[in-house]
Amino acid sequence: MSSATETVIIALTRGRILEETLPLLREAGIEPLEDMRNSRKLKFATSHEQVSLLVMRGSDVPVYVENGAADMGVAGKDMLLEYGGEGLYEPLDLGIAHCRLMIAAPTQAPAPGARLRVATKFTGIAKRWFAEQGRQVELIKLNGALEIAPAMGLADAIVDIVDTGNTLRANGLEPRETIAEISSRVIVNKASMKIKSRLIRAILERLAASAKRHSV
Ligand code: PRP
Repeated sequence: MSSATETVIIALTRGRILEETLPLLREAGIEPLEDMRNSRKLKFATSHEQVSLLVMRGSDVPVYVENGAADMGVAGKDMLLEYGGEGLYEPLDLGIAHCRLMIAAPTQAPAPGARLRVATKFTGIAKRWFAEQGRQVELIKLNGALEIAPAMGLADAIVDIVDTGNTLRANGLEPRETIAEISSRVIVNKASMKIKSRLIRAILERLAASAKRHSV
């Protein structure tokens, strides 16, 4: 049994991932005591007295978890690949918020010049991907408005998340290459996994069971 005084903080990713994570947590016996989607608060108590939840941007989840400010987290694989996950355990794929990280370019692309200009938020992933292939590219860091960058002459291609493909089509782009299949993963702080092993393992087991039920 875990000690009753032991507590676990789980950092969740705001938006679609939160919407898809909350039902899994509920089935695992962890339900926030307030509506997390309509609150300005960032920390929430739950029906499980040893568990509280944080909500934040996906890019911040691995930072909180690696530094021990949260014991566990739920984030998209895209955020984890970009962050570089050596300081974290990634024990569970929840199988939710599926999408692809892709290279996309204009449908009527002119032959690229000597050096492809690629706009992306994911500069770490893109740098590694093109380097592994020995392709010389110029990376342009953007935080949004990616899909319009080629039409405005800012870039020749983009690296971004594609779900339905509607955003690409609406902006005259087409998918070219898949860099990674993305889904949401549970991450755990390495020290917490040792110190709070029983409670964390119990939560992981329950979450794995809820994720499995949702996948069938
Ligand atoms: C993502 C991504 C694309 C869009 C793709 O943005 O950046 O713009 O979804 O989805 P689609 O293929 O179904 O059109 P999101 O809305 O998650 O917000 P973001 O711009 O903050 O990433």
